[in-house]
Amino acid sequence: MKIALGSDHAGLPLKEEIIKHLKSKHIEIKDFGTYTEESCDYPDFALKVAEKVKSKEFEFGILVCGTGIGISIAANKVPGIRAALCSDTFSAHACREHNNANILALGQRIVGLGLALDIVDTFLSAEFQGDRHQRRIDKISEVEKKYCK
Ligand code: RB5
Repeated sequence: MKIALGSDHAGLPLKEEIIKHLKSKHIEIKDFGTYTEESCDYPDFALKVAEKVKSKEFEFGILVCGTGIGISIAANKVPGIRAALCSDTFSAHACREHNNANILALGQRIVGLGLALDIVDTFLSAEFQGDRHQRRIDKISEVEKKYCK
C-alpha cells in the first residue's frame, strides 16, 4: 500500500506525526509538502496528492489542514477523488465501506493526535462494500461527467 500525504502549514505538525506512525508500520509513503511552517495555500497540496491518487500511483491520500475543510473541498474538485473529512472513527470506516473514499482529510485544529492516528488506522484497514454503494458512487461519477467538460 502506497500513501500520498500533503498538508498546508496549519496541518504540518499532524502530517509529520502521521508520517512517523505510518513508517513505524512499514507502510510506504511520500510527502508532497508543504515542508515548512511558512504560510501557504492548501489547494496546492490538495491537487498534488489528488492527482497522484487519481492516476493510481498511490492507493490512498491523506491531507491535513487546519480544519480539513478547505483541503478536502479542493481535493474533491478532481474527478474520481472522494475525499472524506473525518473527525471520528465511525466516519473513518464508513467512508471506506460506503463511499469508497480514496483520500482521508483531517483537521489539525480539530482532532487530537491519538484520535487522528486511530482515524488513519481505521480508514486504511476498512474495505469498500460495493453493491448498492457502488451504484451511488456511479451516480457521483455521472455528475462529474456532466459538469467536467
Ligand atoms: C489556514 O489558516 C486555514 O485556513 C487552513 O488550514 C484550513 O483550515 C482551511 O480550510
